[in-house]
Amino acid sequence: MSDFHLVCLPGDGVGPEVMAAAVRVLAVLPVDAAVEGRMFGGDAIDACGDPLPPGTLAACRNADAVLLGAVGGPRWDGGEVRPEPGLMRLRRELDVYANLRPAAQGDVDLVIVRELVGGLYFGERGVRDDGTVFDTLEYHPAQIERVARRAFELARRRRRDLCSVDKANVLDTSRLWRRVVSELASEYPDVIVRHALVDSTAMELVVHPQRFDVVLTENTFGDILSDVAAAVTGGLGLAASASLGDGRPGIFEPVHGSAPDIAGAGIANPAAMLRSLALCLEHALERPELARQVEHAVDHSLQTAPTPDVGGVATTEQFTDAVVEALREGSSHHTQEEAWTATS
Ligand code: NAD
Ligand code: IPM
Ligand code: MN
Repeated sequence: MSDFHLVCLPGDGVGPEVMAAAVRVLAVLPVDAAVEGRMFGGDAIDACGDPLPPGTLAACRNADAVLLGAVGGPRWDGGEVRPEPGLMRLRRELDVYANLRPAAQGDVDLVIVRELVGGLYFGERGVRDDGTVFDTLEYHPAQIERVARRAFELARRRRRDLCSVDKANVLDTSRLWRRVVSELASEYPDVIVRHALVDSTAMELVVHPQRFDVVLTENTFGDILSDVAAAVTGGLGLAASASLGDGRPGIFEPVHGSAPDIAGAGIANPAAMLRSLALCLEHALERPELARQVEHAVDHSLQTAPTPDVGGVATTEQFTDAVVEALREGSSHHTQEEAWTATS
């Protein structure tokens, strides 16, 4: 029996390409993890008509953590059943309400905390007799409070600066959001809180991203702002995420999608997936030292073997080779250092 049970959902497009990199990297780390692959997304629709088959959901529920590639693609866009609702259902079933999306580069170091299982994605939807189609945006105060608490706690471990983003000049749900966050702020007097509107925040993220530490926002705004934050810190090929609930398992997945424009070419940047693996090592396995090793190896490989999206010519496999090599070298240095310390 392994200590740790990891379910991998490679999914569609570049999903399986970047997942292969994560599995290779995991294999060279000193962790005793059992890895179980499962069908998910378009791939599962083709096989059984359901993007989240019962067997996949059951395996995820029993796992210590879920690693996810990406789902979706033009192939399923016109169909009656789409892959994306499978992802939304998985997040909801596992109740991973807090989606942490870090973005860092140079003097920029921020984390978006996106509410992940409520809001517009999960409200009532339908079609009226006259042909009107509707989606609704709803939040219960308790849904806001639990994700806001995560953001305050995270801010406490960082630079104690929380920016809560909403559209309170227009939306009632945003006015509720602002009230709940303001009330909670009294429990975290050491954290500086400001409220900002989503439109100007999108601009400020582009122009002055270094002004943010923790950004808390609802589901849809967080989806959009996290692609903006990724774009200003090196691109979608680098952006990782951790989706966490109150217990296990969390879902660890890149911010990017299935990248149909480059799928099959073997040139997807696996950095986002590998950084998501690092988040898994930190949050699920509670091995922050291994997470740092993976992050350092990824940073190093971005210099030595960059993929085309970040200005290089390396393939996914060559980038992964560089990461594996850096990790092996790092651990042999480590062993050397330990040997020296032991004999000195
Ligand atoms: P996308 O994120 O797949 O791609 C946007 C752009 O970024 C493309 O030019 C793509 O080539 C590039 N890109 C993304 N990941 C990259 C990587 N690892 N390396 C290099 N370049 C990369 O967004 P899209 O094209 O709008 O969506 C495509 C499909 O993915 C849609 O079906 C969408 O629903 C789905 N999607 C899934 C997830 C997920 O599973 N978590 C997330 C976003 C989008
Ligand atoms: C993401 C994706 C998903 C989302 C889609 C594929 C459902 O864009 O993880 O950012 O909107 O949450
Ligand atoms: Mn998105």
